[in-house]
Amino acid sequence: MWVQPQNGCARNHDGVFLEAVQQLVPTTVATASAELPATIRNESELEEILTRPSAALIEAIKTISSPLLVLGAGGKMGPTLAVLARRAAEAAGHPLEVVAVSRFGNASSRQWLEARGVQTASCDLLDANAIIRLPDAANIIYLVGLKFGTAQNPAATWAINTLVPARVCERYPRSRIVALSTGNVYPPSAVSRGGAVETDSLTPLGEYANAAVGRERIFEYHAHRQHTPVTLLRLFYAVELRYGVLADIARKVHTGQPVALANGAFNCIWQRDANDLILRALPLTAAPARVYNLCRPEVFSVREIATRLGELLGRPPVFSGSETTTALLGNSAQLGTALDTTATPMETILHWTAQWVKHGGRDLGRPTHFEVRDGKY
Ligand SMILES: NC(=O)c1ccc[n+]([C@@H]2O[C@H](COP(=O)([O-])OP(=O)(O)OC[C@H]3O[C@@H](n4cnc5c(N)ncnc54)[C@H](OP(=O)(O)O)[C@@H]3O)[C@@H](O)[C@H]2O)c1
Repeated sequence: MWVQPQNGCARNHDGVFLEAVQQLVPTTVATASAELPATIRNESELEEILTRPSAALIEAIKTISSPLLVLGAGGKMGPTLAVLARRAAEAAGHPLEVVAVSRFGNASSRQWLEARGVQTASCDLLDANAIIRLPDAANIIYLVGLKFGTAQNPAATWAINTLVPARVCERYPRSRIVALSTGNVYPPSAVSRGGAVETDSLTPLGEYANAAVGRERIFEYHAHRQHTPVTLLRLFYAVELRYGVLADIARKVHTGQPVALANGAFNCIWQRDANDLILRALPLTAAPARVYNLCRPEVFSVREIATRLGELLGRPPVFSGSETTTALLGNSAQLGTALDTTATPMETILHWTAQWVKHGGRDLGRPTHFEVRDGKY
């Protein structure tokens, strides 16, 4: 089980490590009070939960003018983020047009969006001639990125992660831009420290992580040079049931594959909570750019989460290796002071995940590789 203060002690199989993790647990973690189902039985139910706006978002969306552009909307987070914005606007009685922009190699996500009232525009954002034809917009959520496949084609990773931000900033010099970055911009840090903070040096391992630093620097450059208001959000593992670090661990436990422990601690955030915060971060944009870590406040132990998922799945986990003193971790306290960061209860998410995996729920087939420690994705 993850380490919660009210649960007393974590199990004692790696005293030093777990003691370190336990000390990091905040005294309170605000949790969402809205009614949540005990299980999620299918993708329609999952999508309803993932696109259900918080009261804070329904209030905040009233200040967003049309159109809201979501760039890189065809990936894992974009579709539910765009529909979350639509539902918030509808609940607020605010006439907000949401335009999802991507190449939409996957036509089904385009149809899914349009069926839910989101407009779509197919655009290769590397193409300056195509980007010019996109509508003007005062508010932009930037989700474009490339991570997997970097080992085979590092040039593409650098192009997507650095050239596209430059094109977007040149096309939208006055727009407010909330741009997703990643926790991978930090090197691993001591678990006992409780996670990297925003002022830490960005000296990660590997080409993907360094290209992600490049993405940030290009946004910062334009925020500085042309006063584009920017917020950079360094996300640590969004999770839902079809992908994410919890689904990865649950699938390994369910199929009896070993769960690697060397990267023994992690942060994460339920994707709906992440998307809700991403949209509410638009008023935080500024020039020079502001930077926040984005995750739940707790540090989770891989061993404890696997053990709890094993209990829920009725199968004890198999482990490989042992915990080390460092892991890729972030401290999200700064975002917590800027925005109300109410979280979906972790025990509920674990129940949903175990049930989903047990009953053969859809897997996107995009593993996080949370166990990677050499930066090679
Ligand atoms: N999900 C996570 O757990 C996580 C964790 C840390 C950081 N992040 C960051 O959060 C962002 C969103 O995450 P995600 O999981 O949704 O990422 P994702 O699944 O990789 O989606 C990003 C999307 O960007 C679009 N894109 C790439 N190149 C493009 C181009 N030239 N023109 C137009 N669109 C392009 C792609 O959609 P098309 O193929 O349709 O063009 C792609 O699906 C990413 O930038 C990532 O770095 C995510």
